[in-house]
Amino acid sequence: MAVETSRVGAAIRGEFPIFEHTTYLNSCSQGALSYRVRRAYEEYLDGWDENGAEWEHWVERAESARAAFARLLRAGPGEIAVTTSVSQGVSGIVSALDLATRPRIVISEYEFPTVGQIAHAQELRGAEVVHVRPEADGSIPPELYAAVVDERTALVCCTTISYRTGHRHDVAEIARIAHDAGALCLADSYQGIGAIDFDAPALGVDFVTGGTVKYLLASSGLGFLYVRGGLLPELLPTQTGWFADEDIFQMDISDYSPAADARRFDAGTPPVPNIYGGLAGMSIVEEAGTAAIEEHIAGLADRLIAGLDELGATVATPREPERRGPLVCVRSTDVRTLVDTLAAARIVCSERDSNLRIALHLYNVDEDVDIVLTSLARHRHLLA
Ligand SMILES: Cc1ncc(COP(=O)(O)O)c(C=O)c1O
Repeated sequence: MAVETSRVGAAIRGEFPIFEHTTYLNSCSQGALSYRVRRAYEEYLDGWDENGAEWEHWVERAESARAAFARLLRAGPGEIAVTTSVSQGVSGIVSALDLATRPRIVISEYEFPTVGQIAHAQELRGAEVVHVRPEADGSIPPELYAAVVDERTALVCCTTISYRTGHRHDVAEIARIAHDAGALCLADSYQGIGAIDFDAPALGVDFVTGGTVKYLLASSGLGFLYVRGGLLPELLPTQTGWFADEDIFQMDISDYSPAADARRFDAGTPPVPNIYGGLAGMSIVEEAGTAAIEEHIAGLADRLIAGLDELGATVATPREPERRGPLVCVRSTDVRTLVDTLAAARIVCSERDSNLRIALHLYNVDEDVDIVLTSLARHRHLLA
């Protein structure tokens, strides 16, 4: 146990060469590249070179990815679809909804564009999309959902952690509100998975989606969709593909017979190279343990927020540890210039709206926080 919990901070940083020259605080956009993930891609290429089409092995790797996602969510592998993106998972969900009986889809203002756009695309099928907008302080309390979720609602979408402000939402309560009205609930958790301890069944949510680009430390082209097991008999996605069939290798084109489990939300040929990278990235997260990672990040976030307060900056992310995660946002008067100025000093952050986004992960240390704070003090005029 002691070994596991020590695989954060200085103990893991050497796996990520970028820290030799850069203060990397941008895991909300893209996790840093490790030697392990680079080697995994090489292993894929070597196997392909040596053995040709290793399809049996590659399909086994896809099943290993399903199992790894399941462990991270404390779900069963039969509750996980392996996808290429959040977009694929969400399109699969809406394709399974009966919008004739329940036309309403509720989304929060903090949804990632893909979720909002997929919801609005359903207007072509008769959907009515309702937005839940944040209060003046940027929070979205569950009561705001309760005001618009009704017996005509099919799906309620929330985001575990806002990519725009770092707010963490009460997913369990939002799911309860959805269920009270007979609706289903989706939590886009891309900005949390890998950085927070996550228990999908305990939250009671119906769907959880995310991918490996950010806190799971790998590349684009691999994601997951959790579908609560009990729900599966009712849900038939019409967005599908041969890897979602009950018997993939039967090659039968005479009917639609989807897998009994969440694999029915898979689609075409699995993204094999990304699966190699994803498994390597997830192994780093799993070795550290998500509880230890969350605790490590919370300590760094406390230090960062205290430093920002000393600068008199306006922190857009809530202060209470249970209402935030790995992303701390601070208001800027000219955020593009601020991101560029930090980049010139080899400090990598990002921006959304007028917020500077500072993302913390297992490989960050106190020194990273102090470096960004020192630089922000020097450019105080760019903070609101
Ligand atoms: C909250 C959130 N959802 C979804 C995505 C990406 O969606 P997709 O995998 O469809 O590109 C991102 C980031 O890229 C994100 O931050």
